[in-house]
Amino acid sequence: TQRHDLDGETVLLTAGPTREPLDPVRFISNRSSGKMGYSLAEAAALRGARVVLVSGPVNLPAPEGVELVPVQTAQEMYDAVMVHLEASSIVIKTAAVADYHVANVPTQKVKKSAMRLSLELDPTLDILAEVGRRKQDRLLIGFAAETENLIAEARRKMQTKNCDMVVANNVSADGVGFESDQNEVVLVLSTGEIQPLPRASKRALADQILDQVLRLRLALHQR
Ligand code: PMT
Repeated sequence: TQRHDLDGETVLLTAGPTREPLDPVRFISNRSSGKMGYSLAEAAALRGARVVLVSGPVNLPAPEGVELVPVQTAQEMYDAVMVHLEASSIVIKTAAVADYHVANVPTQKVKKSAMRLSLELDPTLDILAEVGRRKQDRLLIGFAAETENLIAEARRKMQTKNCDMVVANNVSADGVGFESDQNEVVLVLSTGEIQPLPRASKRALADQILDQVLRLRLALHQR
């Protein structure tokens, strides 16, 4: 079934993890597979949107018709998002971006020794917060991966980052969240509504999330 309810929209999506180098051969990363973000990209493209998918390293093919912008680090993801922000009408930030990166990355491979080694980490730039500052009339949807206080944390992220919706993902439950094919989320909307989406495939949830994004757009315009 092909809907055309996203005709004329440009959806800017981020997906996957970032990789923050420790040295030329090692990195810090996380368990994001990209499945949730790629499902959203595929669903949005099938519904008629132009889709720009800024993705960290994952083992998934780009969905048909989607413009893939591959990146590695949080800084590269930030730069790519800012390049494509201007043209976008809907921004959805599914990526699991590193919150810290190594302060001074050695140019040579770190050698093993018997000594304890410590890492100095600096915070990365918050891409979602910066998009929130430059939002204008775009719809901005963030994700929140939480292991506790799911709704309260999602609401806090929605307000501090100027989002219209946050997709709250309890990532401590079995069989959902990072890496799995299924997910279970709660949509926290700027209208104050809370909409739980019961367990389903990430692909099915992608269409349900997009349905709510379009419904929210109408609600915001009518205010
Ligand atoms: O990729 P999968 O294996 O399918 O798993 C899906 C998922 C669990 C990764 C996804 O559903 C999810 O929850 N993504 C958000 C992961 C995350 O890093 O959440 P966060 O609560 O740390 O970040 C909050 C929001 O700020 C996110 O929209 C994130 O993209 C954004 N962010 C975070 C840090 C940063 N430096 N810049 C950002 O833009």
